[in-house]
Amino acid sequence: MNLIFLGPPGAGKGTQAQRVAAAHGLVQLSTGDMLRAAVAAGTEVGLKAKAVMEAGELVSDDIVVAIVADRIAGPDCAGGFVLDGFPRTVAQAEALDTVLDGNGMRIDHVVEMTVDDDALVERISGRFSCVACGAAYHDRFNRPKVEGVCDACGGGEFVRREDDNAETVATRLRAYHAQTAPLLPYYRERGALRPVDGMAEIDAVTRQIEAVLDGGGGD
Ligand code: AP5
Repeated sequence: MNLIFLGPPGAGKGTQAQRVAAAHGLVQLSTGDMLRAAVAAGTEVGLKAKAVMEAGELVSDDIVVAIVADRIAGPDCAGGFVLDGFPRTVAQAEALDTVLDGNGMRIDHVVEMTVDDDALVERISGRFSCVACGAAYHDRFNRPKVEGVCDACGGGEFVRREDDNAETVATRLRAYHAQTAPLLPYYRERGALRPVDGMAEIDAVTRQIEAVLDGGGGD
């Protein structure tokens, strides 16, 4: 099963992708995580992406398409994957179609998480994650069960993202509405779009997605 999780910054794509990937034995492919790893490692891609990401704008299509094409062709993705944060432009979606065709693959569902812009700002400004395993938490909505200890791996060190500030979030939201929202009609026309209410609490969103994967939902 191959999935795309689509939605604005802070909609819960990463939170849900991590859960669904673990439950179904899928590989989570987050372009944001891959780019942040490249920035941290100081690779050529990382050097090109750093300033763009800090500004909240989109990294160029050719860079992200090359990263994703490389990963999808990896043997671990043969059993299925969740794309989290990709595609983000129509050009990326078209390139993905070509990559999938070339690998004899297809997308089964495009899960769209709908969340109000005001809620997104609150979610992003309260977010932190585990340094060791990347599990996402929130100051208010999703704290570790034991204070200071990651539920997933037991790690004790947490980090906040550099682009999670009010100014950058506004730019990221504008980029979503201008460049990524046109993907909704793209996938709707292909009969693949499955909207879920991303305003619901985290477990309820997971249940909606599981219902989609079981054959319910979609438009
Ligand atoms: P990326 O890392 O993909 O960031 P994003 O799309 O802005 O999404 P986020 O990771 O901020 O949010 P999310 O939807 O995963 O929400 P989360 O689950 O963490 O991209 C970063 C940058 O990289 C981009 O700006 C761009 O520069 C570049 N980039 C990446 N991909 C690219 C591409 N394809 N093309 C070009 N450039 C690209 O949840 C957020 C918070 O809310 C968490 O604290 C969580 O605990 C909480 N939460 C989650 N769900 C709920 C809920 N239902 N109720 C209450 N709280 C919730």
